[in-house]
Amino acid sequence: MTARTIRLPEGFHLHELEAIDSTNDEAKRLADKGAQSGALVLARTQTSGRGRRGRAWSSPVGNLYSSLLLRPTCSLAEAARLTFLIAVSMAEAVEMVTGNQVRPDCKWPNDLMVNGRKICGILLESASNQGSATDYLVIGTGVNVAFAPDDAERPATSLSALGAPVSVDELVSTYLARIAHWLPIWEDKGFGPVREAWLSRGYGIGQPVVARLTERELSGTFVGLDDDGSLVLREDSGTEHRIGAGEVFFATGSE
Ligand code: BTN
Repeated sequence: MTARTIRLPEGFHLHELEAIDSTNDEAKRLADKGAQSGALVLARTQTSGRGRRGRAWSSPVGNLYSSLLLRPTCSLAEAARLTFLIAVSMAEAVEMVTGNQVRPDCKWPNDLMVNGRKICGILLESASNQGSATDYLVIGTGVNVAFAPDDAERPATSLSALGAPVSVDELVSTYLARIAHWLPIWEDKGFGPVREAWLSRGYGIGQPVVARLTERELSGTFVGLDDDGSLVLREDSGTEHRIGAGEVFFATGSE
């Protein structure tokens, strides 16, 4: 394997692997051993890559698999909003490394889409100390650089398929640079600026949406993102719902 050439902003530490079960699992193991905030686990392939809701994440060599360990000093509820910062950072990185050829949309809660097809999935896992204080967050990102899974239910695409083959190392380096750009803004001004950046790429805003919740389904229009990151759904009756967790489906049929 060729050596990696990753540019690391100050405060980030790279844990580079050829193969691992899951970069999220490795980042959690490092966290449990006391690793510092800013550790980034990067692997060329995963043998048990995981998606949300217990799904498997196909992990051939050629795509990007990374997990970032953060130890924010806030509640878990606040810390969970960092997934929006990660989504924006990766969307901007994709746009930059493709020379503006590919502009991903941010799909609630934390996917990136191009032309209605998924190109990146984000898996947030967390651990708390006492009460609701955050011990650590692990935010895993999988980007379809060279390959996209063949999934009729959840159509996906890759940068290669879009005619924009890029270097995984260049994408990771740019992604880290964007996180390093956004984190001080987050610390200084909170969620607001990240929310605005996310909304400027928001997928399906103003469109019909079905939200599948634990006990029921809600249909309406996706009218925006609340101050706490909840999806705002307006029913035809005018009743608005703030949805903090769940799966959403748009008319295109893509999750
Ligand atoms: C999803 O869309 O369901 C989330 C997918 C997250 C995949 C990434 S790949 C790197 C990290 N390690 C994992 O096992 N999962 C995440």
